[in-house]
Amino acid sequence: MKISVIGAGSIGGTLGKAWAAAGHAVQFGVRDANAPKVQRLLDGISGDATAASVESALAYGDVIQIAIPGPAVAEFARTAGAALDGKTVIDASNRMGQAEMNSIGALRAVAPNARFFRAFNNLGWENFAQPQIGSERIDLFYCGDAGDAQRTVHGLINDVGLNPVYVGGLDKLPLIDMLTLLWASLAHGQGYGRRIGLKLLAP
Ligand SMILES: NC(=O)c1ccc[n+]([C@@H]2O[C@H](COP(=O)([O-])OP(=O)(O)OC[C@H]3O[C@@H](n4cnc5c(N)ncnc54)[C@H](OP(=O)(O)O)[C@@H]3O)[C@@H](O)[C@H]2O)c1
Repeated sequence: MKISVIGAGSIGGTLGKAWAAAGHAVQFGVRDANAPKVQRLLDGISGDATAASVESALAYGDVIQIAIPGPAVAEFARTAGAALDGKTVIDASNRMGQAEMNSIGALRAVAPNARFFRAFNNLGWENFAQPQIGSERIDLFYCGDAGDAQRTVHGLINDVGLNPVYVGGLDKLPLIDMLTLLWASLAHGQGYGRRIGLKLLAP
């Protein structure tokens, strides 16, 4: 599958690396494809990974993973516009401290025919780089539009090494965003540290 990862920092770099290792073709959409840190990232990836402008990357992938700072996503949505339409779009960005942490509303406004998902937003990136603790795979709770695209996203979460738990459609956005606050409260407020995951137990 062709995946465009917008942003090549902690989240984008970690997810892109994992997907390329799993056999996907990854293109990072970045502001400077020749920046030394982008080149270092590409050098450390085994598999099919390239970097290009955000505009080029938007045309590249069937799946668009957004991994830029939350406050930048509204402007990104305005610029990307119809280039997102018809694609499967995953929003990992957090607008911390805002009433609504996700940017799905702004994204959907410019691309009403895209399928949207909220995933990779509610755990620290270290847990995407090392998705297992002991013998347990960390759960990734996510939500988004039902249908074929949901099965694709489910598979992509698996490909990172996490255990996907689909919580439902976009009406579940507040739940998925609350988990970010729960994770941060435990990691930073209660001193558990960033290497923690959440687990659903079921018979
Ligand atoms: N870090 C975590 O553990 C974590 C966990 C869950 C969710 N998140 C969310 O994921 C998103 C990314 O976090 P991160 O930790 O990966 O951040 P990061 O390491 O700072 O990386 C941010 C990336 O976004 C790019 N970028 C910044 N502003 C941009 C803009 N206006 N247009 C296009 N690209 C831009 C940066 O490129 P330049 O090099 O050009 O600046 C960089 O590649 C954030 O919204 C964060 O809330 C983070």
